[in-house]
Amino acid sequence: MNYFIHTYGCQMNVHDSEKIAGILQSIGYIECDSVDKADIVVFNTCCIRETAEKKIYGHIGQLKKLKIKNRNLIIVVCGCMSQQDGAVESIKKSYPYVDIVLGTANLEMLKDAVLQVSKHRKKFFNVDFLNTREEDFSISRTSYPNAWVNIAYGCNNFCTYCIVPYVRGREHSRPIRDILKEVKSLLEEGYKEITLLGQNVNSYGHGLETGENFAMLLTEIGKLEETYGKFRLRFMTSHPKDLSDEVINVVSKYPVICNNIHLPVQSGSTEILRRMNRRYTREKYLELISKVRAKMPDVGITTDIMVGFPGETEQDFEDTLDLVRQAKYSSAFCFVYSRRKGTPADKMEDQIPYKVKQSRITRLLACQNEVTKEISAQMVGNTYEVLVEGANFHYQGVMCGRTESGRLVNFKCDSKMIGQFVNVKIDKAKSATLWGSIVTEE
Ligand code: SAH
Ligand code: SF4
Ligand code: F3S
Repeated sequence: MNYFIHTYGCQMNVHDSEKIAGILQSIGYIECDSVDKADIVVFNTCCIRETAEKKIYGHIGQLKKLKIKNRNLIIVVCGCMSQQDGAVESIKKSYPYVDIVLGTANLEMLKDAVLQVSKHRKKFFNVDFLNTREEDFSISRTSYPNAWVNIAYGCNNFCTYCIVPYVRGREHSRPIRDILKEVKSLLEEGYKEITLLGQNVNSYGHGLETGENFAMLLTEIGKLEETYGKFRLRFMTSHPKDLSDEVINVVSKYPVICNNIHLPVQSGSTEILRRMNRRYTREKYLELISKVRAKMPDVGITTDIMVGFPGETEQDFEDTLDLVRQAKYSSAFCFVYSRRKGTPADKMEDQIPYKVKQSRITRLLACQNEVTKEISAQMVGNTYEVLVEGANFHYQGVMCGRTESGRLVNFKCDSKMIGQFVNVKIDKAKSATLWGSIVTEE
């Protein structure tokens, strides 16, 4: 029996899909490479923007034909989209051939759901927030040499545009003890990079009775190099309002913790930030960047930015462009604001017309592209330590990996080197893409 998983959305979902794969394997399914060969197809969904949602519904729609051909095919919809208000009803109505709908906080029900459907042909719909989520899943990891590790679930920040707090529930952290146990066993298994995941890693510990915080967690993992040897530690996402001096100090102190911070700014205008409920100002954000750069001159800072938030004036947008030039991000994920039902921003009156949003995103992308190009050009001729991560599928014999600061580099080497650290000299830079060659020390 074969399974096929469609994964949409962020790293959180990528990692959840590894858990889904683990559950399916535990009941005898094996992975296949196309939906046509599958006995079970899982859609692990995202609803952060309308475009994501529309695309997924389109893909679910395409399975109708397959289901007519193979009545035993099991179709599962889980993840953030199914957790939205009214989603179960609308799936039942418009996609009646879907067999299982699960939410974001009851994945462990998947096993029973699949057994129920395959044995009794009885559909299974449940999007309850169990909040008993523990890491006792067998995880089928797919991202060697990197391993994802959840440190916190959910979000309490309620940025006014964002659906995540509604579909992922309240923030809760795993105890340091559990996280350390998982990290140690991953290092023992040979993983070379650990990426800690949370919607806001900087508020880690919130709600734990033991008073644990993110700096303490980083310190504990930072100390593991002594016992386990060289590895890399990354984390995402950092909310600027909670990035403490203590965390900055710990990141700069331990060599295993990469000098690479994903610090979503969203907007460069204090007024828009206020309306977004981000709880920092443009000035505070820029101060934070200076502080990080003062401690770690080689740091790579990346960000998320949105254009066309309700009420965004031309001046607000210009402020964003100006901040992008000052912050010198090595890269930025740029989005057009998308109205999400149930969020406060959806009810704001001064929504921005489509055309204005389109013109702003084009200008923003061009602006960031200039910044990236400049940073890339400065890297040419320098040598960086790179972890060989995997093949570049466009070019035979070319592997890729990242510098400590998070820049992706392409270079020729044997695929046997995946998981090893090498020194790569940057030969040329094409905007975001860097090309280099391995240098061996005499
Ligand atoms: N927890 C993370 C981000 C999660 S969502 C954080 O706080 O930064 C990833 C990114 O999607 C956000 O940073 C934001 O830039 C974007 N995003 C979220 N809601 C959006 C919306 N309604 N429209 C457009 N982009 C959105
Ligand atoms: Fe969404 Fe804000 Fe929470 Fe990030 S911090 S997930 S943007 S509500
Ligand atoms: Fe991630 Fe999308 Fe959910 S961005 S948290 S998968 S809404």
